[in-house]
Amino acid sequence: VCGIIGYVGSTDGADAVDVVLDGLARLEYRGYDSAGLAVPTPSMTVHKTEGELSALEAAVPRGEHAGERVGIGHTRWSTHGAPSDVNAHPHSDDEGRVSVVHNGIIENYQRLRDDLAAAGVEFRSETDTEVVPHLIGRYLDRGADPEEAFRLAIDQLEGSYAIAAVFDGAETVYAARKDSPLVVGLGDDGTYLASDVPAFVEHTDRVRYVEDDEFVRLTGDGAVVTDSEGGIVDREPETVSWDADDVGKGGYDHYMLKEIREQPTALRQCLRGRIDELDGTVALEDIADLDHSGPVQFVACGTSYHAALFGAERLRAAGVSAQAFLASEYTRERVPVDSDTLVVGVTQSGETADTLRALRAADGAGATTLAVTNTVASSAARECDHALYIRAGPEIGVAATKTFASQQLALALLAFELGGEATRAELEAIRDVPGHVQTVLETTTATEIAEAYVDADAYFFVGRGYHYPVALEGALKMKEITYKHAEGFAAGELKHGPLALVSENTPVFAVVTGDDEAARKTIGNVKEVEARDAPVVAITDGVSDVARYADHVLEIPAVDDLGASVLANVQLQLVAYRVANQLGRSIDKPRHLAKSVTVE
Ligand code: F6R
Repeated sequence: VCGIIGYVGSTDGADAVDVVLDGLARLEYRGYDSAGLAVPTPSMTVHKTEGELSALEAAVPRGEHAGERVGIGHTRWSTHGAPSDVNAHPHSDDEGRVSVVHNGIIENYQRLRDDLAAAGVEFRSETDTEVVPHLIGRYLDRGADPEEAFRLAIDQLEGSYAIAAVFDGAETVYAARKDSPLVVGLGDDGTYLASDVPAFVEHTDRVRYVEDDEFVRLTGDGAVVTDSEGGIVDREPETVSWDADDVGKGGYDHYMLKEIREQPTALRQCLRGRIDELDGTVALEDIADLDHSGPVQFVACGTSYHAALFGAERLRAAGVSAQAFLASEYTRERVPVDSDTLVVGVTQSGETADTLRALRAADGAGATTLAVTNTVASSAARECDHALYIRAGPEIGVAATKTFASQQLALALLAFELGGEATRAELEAIRDVPGHVQTVLETTTATEIAEAYVDADAYFFVGRGYHYPVALEGALKMKEITYKHAEGFAAGELKHGPLALVSENTPVFAVVTGDDEAARKTIGNVKEVEARDAPVVAITDGVSDVARYADHVLEIPAVDDLGASVLANVQLQLVAYRVANQLGRSIDKPRHLAKSVTVE
């Protein structure tokens, strides 16, 4: 996820550099590892820097651009290439005729890059985006005008993109969109273009959402939107009701809720270009040179540890010997690790001290190390032999939500990679998970459940197999944002102790999907708690008869166990969020907790 912005001022419009920098500040929640902008008049100038937006603000000589009314800008969250000045956007062709900003992933960039390199283009960055200005440049060389060259280049791209381009000396911004958000703002002092409304909402509330495969020509007088054939698309502008205070949260009360709702997009981004259903193969380009057939050990903390438990279970199902360890408990003296072992650090931030220490211990013992992380060029990514990116986009809420779901899917893909062939049905099932998450988000009754149990003494969560880590994660989410007692158990463990805790004031959330032996055994556990008067909330696909024994049901679509564990977790995230919201907790920044824990 990245944020882009474009602006063309009317005759009495504002300075483009000011508009672009202000807009980027409001898009920083979409990415903050590097930023850049281009002003094409009177001649093309590009400024870009690694680091937060403040670094770019310090680097731009505003006076030099006073009175210039055209600009594009970008704030980056890396997916290809480390955060660096050179990898920051905008990217330009060799002669500086065109500069481009991009949000998304260009899936066929390697082939395009090879073709362009063979034709003599020298690439400066490691990004997928840099192919775009060079492609445009090639069409300019062949005599196309800027708009034609832009359209021809876009036609070559596969993947997802919201792209904006400016041309040397020209007062026009060209843009295109596919599977990445893009919206036009129609103001009195000029025309705006951005990944999200907050970027310009202080200037105008009149917007036109751009649809997939549409092109935009932005001038100081307005925007012309055309379809892929060049036909004009006439759509009435809409008026949005946000004000500048909603910035970043996209109209939601909390980042956590926004990030829960972003999960379908985050998961699609995690899967993009990594599954070939026709061939029945998974291709993880990030770890193409990882060739491993021995045992696997996971090390992780907190929510990431729950994802690691899920990953280990998944690998075992694929026939690979795998275990998950709490990173803080992992020492090479106590764990058998050698050069045959792959040690996988699961860490969204890539900076968690316990996880880094465990990975270093594994490295010291000669193991191969792999970071599964959301943060390109984080310490874990840099220090490990390999890195697999989960591509969830920045997560601002302290409680991990979309990164957990993306870790689940990334680890499922890793299991296919290490465990051998996947069946077409398995790949289709994974591909369909984001759509099912959307269904859960649209149909959930979590608010009702939260209302029923907001005053409970404690909350218990149980599950088996893939649903055991979900039970642990459901409890962690509940305790960290509500500050109330919550525990997760393997369902079979209830009778070995925890059952003594249950009462009519302790709801038990049971994840039961399918109708196999595991489901039947968990239903047996549900009956045990029901007999002790504890209310039961079943998270179920309706395949078994667990609903008969439950006081409430949170429904999910009927899918395989692996997908069901992603969907069940989304329901539990929503319940925790709704309870915390009713209790008026500081949801995005729970007391005593930090987003990234860099001390042991
Ligand atoms: C809980 C949470 C933490 C993190 C843990 C590890 O919502 O966010 O439990 O999962 O601190 O963080 P990373 O994944 O950055 O290593």
